Amino acid sequence: MPEPMEDYGNNLGGVGGALLEVADVSKTFRSKAGEVRAVDGVSFTAQQGEVVVIVGPSGSGKTTLLYILGSLEKPDQGKILVSGEDICAPGVDLIAYRRRRVGFIFQFFNLVTALTALENVALPMDLSAVPSAEQERRAVELLERMGIDRRLQRTRANRLSGGEKQRVAIARALANDPQIILADEPTGNLDSATGGTVVDILVRLAREDGRCVLIVTHDESILGVADRAFHMADGRLSPR
Ligand SMILES: Nc1ncnc2c1ncn2[C@@H]1O[C@H](COP(=O)(O)OP(=O)(O)OP(=O)(O)O)[C@@H](O)[C@H]1O
Ligand SMILES: [Mg+2]
Repeated sequence: MPEPMEDYGNNLGGVGGALLEVADVSKTFRSKAGEVRAVDGVSFTAQQGEVVVIVGPSGSGKTTLLYILGSLEKPDQGKILVSGEDICAPGVDLIAYRRRRVGFIFQFFNLVTALTALENVALPMDLSAVPSAEQERRAVELLERMGIDRRLQRTRANRLSGGEKQRVAIARALANDPQIILADEPTGNLDSATGGTVVDILVRLAREDGRCVLIVTHDESILGVADRAFHMADGRLSPR
């Protein structure tokens, strides 16, 4: 495996307190078909350097919770404190939060298929106005860390294998050096050996970099790497 990347000097969370504090968060979806309380009074905390795993069946609210934590979805109630700052409070720059403080990893990778691996990783830095030479330098470094060699870096995303795509997606999630990694079913589309490699990488992001890595999944086998493990059912979270 490649060496750990250098520390970019970004602040990785609060001193003393929890990096992430989630308090009584709920979200109900309403449509003509009726109401679904997708997330129901969820509370937990996580520290920097921890792997949190939430296991639950389809429809239990895992993705909705992750989207709320990443501010892609707004909760109806509750608080989400990141290093003590409530991201739901008025006036918070949510665009900056999404770009710089959280990194998303998805089951279906969500790479831009027509772009190369390198371009996919550079893209979030482009949005954050990182100078282009620095974008490339850092994208190469992140991809090397993920074991994506020079040839694959220049390969279009649609030509990569599933495991390669997910490693590129992890490099992309790291582009702006976020404190929090939110992974939604990151092994759901991979065979078990490749999925195991991806989980190992996610664990290293916690252990080596001090990030908080939150994984939601159906896959109970991932519980083995958790520092904090929860079960989710009908929108509710309970410790395992
Ligand atoms: N945008 C939406 N509008 C209406 N209902 C929604 C919306 N998003 C999710 N839901 C409903 O909320 C509930 C929780 O969905 P969610 O996608 O969070 O579950 P999940 O645990 O991620 O499931 P899966 O394991 O299948 O991905 C489900 O009943 C779902 O149909
Ligand atoms: Mg889901």
